[in-house]
Amino acid sequence: MTEPDPSARAARLADTVTASVPGLDPRWHRAVATVRRDLFLPDRVWTDTGPLDRAVDEKSWWDAAYDDIPVITAVDGSPGREDWPTSSASQPSVVAAMLDLLDPTTGPFLEIGTGTGWNASLLRAATGHDVVSVEIDPDLARAARGACERAGVDPRIVTADGTLGHPTTAPYAAVVATCSVHTVPAAWIEQTRPGGTLVVPWTSPWVSYGIARLTRHQDGGASGPFAALGSFMPLRAAAAGYDPDPPAVDHDAPVRERVSTLAPWTVQPDEPDAAFAVGATLPGLRHLTARADDPEPGQWCCTLRVIDASGANWADIDHEHDRDDGPFTVTVHGERDVWADIEDAHARWVARGRPGPERFGLTVTPDGTQRIWFDAPTGPTRPLAPDA
Ligand SMILES: C[S@@+](CC[C@H](N)C(=O)[O-])C[C@H]1O[C@@H](n2cnc3c(N)ncnc32)[C@H](O)[C@@H]1O
Repeated sequence: MTEPDPSARAARLADTVTASVPGLDPRWHRAVATVRRDLFLPDRVWTDTGPLDRAVDEKSWWDAAYDDIPVITAVDGSPGREDWPTSSASQPSVVAAMLDLLDPTTGPFLEIGTGTGWNASLLRAATGHDVVSVEIDPDLARAARGACERAGVDPRIVTADGTLGHPTTAPYAAVVATCSVHTVPAAWIEQTRPGGTLVVPWTSPWVSYGIARLTRHQDGGASGPFAALGSFMPLRAAAAGYDPDPPAVDHDAPVRERVSTLAPWTVQPDEPDAAFAVGATLPGLRHLTARADDPEPGQWCCTLRVIDASGANWADIDHEHDRDDGPFTVTVHGERDVWADIEDAHARWVARGRPGPERFGLTVTPDGTQRIWFDAPTGPTRPLAPDA
C-alpha cells in the first residue's frame, strides 16, 4: 500500500477531536497533532468488526489508528475469555475531553492505567510537567515504554497495582484514571494535594458511564460533579468497589409473572443517561442480556435479567424483537420485585427531566464514605431511589 502520511493523519485527527469537544484547550489539539497514535498501537488490534492485523489489512489498521474510535489493544486470551478486552486505546475525542478536565498549568500528574501510553504522552507533551503512569500488566507497561521512546515523549511508566497510586512521588496536582471504579481508592485522594483534581471514570455494577471530576479538600475528602463521558474498563482489583462476577441466582425463590410497559432497552447502556441514573440510584443491581438464536415469529428473542447483590431477588424481562412496543412479560423471582424498583427509578428520572450525569456528583468524606448527590453536594442522596 502507499505509505500513509502519519503526520497529516494526526493533524486531521486533532481537528476532528477539536470539532467534537467544545472549547477544547488548544494545547490538547497540538498534542494530538504531534504525538502519533499509530506509534502506540500493537500490530493486532480489535475494533467493533473484530480482530485486525496490520500485516493482513494495513489500510484498515491505519484507519483504526486515526479514526475517532476506541481500539482494543489487548485481550485476556484464556479459555472462555479469548476476546475479553483487557486494554484499549480509548476514543481520541473522549481522551481529549477527559484531559480537558485537568488544569494543564500545574503538575505533576499521576495516571492510573497506562495502557498504550498515548494518554500519558499527550499529558506530558501538552503540559511539560512530570507524568507518572501506573500499569498493572507488565507486558503492556513494557510495550508502552517502547512506544513512548519511539514517539520521543518521556512519561515515567511504573508497573504496579494502581489502586495504591504511586506514593513515592506524591503529592500530585492531579490524579487521572483511565480505568473505572465504583469507589475511589483512598490512596488516590491522599496522594492528590489539597485543591488538586481527581478525574475518575465511574462505574456501577449496572453501567460504566460518567467521569467524576473531584476537587481534593484540605480535610482529606473530595467532591465534584460528573461529566457525561465514558465508558472505561474496570480497575483490575477488588478495590474497584464490587465483584465483577454477578452472584448466582436463587432458582428456588418464589416466582410470579406480570407485565410491564417499561421497555428493557431504555435502561441499558445504549441509553446512557437513564442507565447512569439507575446505577446511581439502585447501586446493588446488575443486568445480563440473553438472546435466543433464530426466534420464531411471535416468540421472544431477548431477555434482560436484573439481579440484586445477593442473587435472591431477580427478574427476567422478555421482548419479542429488538424494539417491540410491549407490554413486556416480567418473571419476578424472590420477595423483592427488582424490576418494580427500576420502573420507579426510571419514572422519577423522567419526572426530573431526564438528567444526565452532569446533574449528579460524588462526595468522598474524610472517613472514606462515598455518596452520590443530585444538583448540589447538599442535594438529595440517591435522589431517584424509591424512598428518596
Ligand atoms: C482503557 S485502558 C487505558 C488507556 C490508556 N490510558 C491509553 O492511553 O492507551 C485501561 C488500562 O488500565 C489498566 N489497569 C486496570 N487495572 C489496573 C490497576 N489496578 N492498576 C494499574 N493499571 C490498571 C489496564 O491494564 C489497561 O491497560
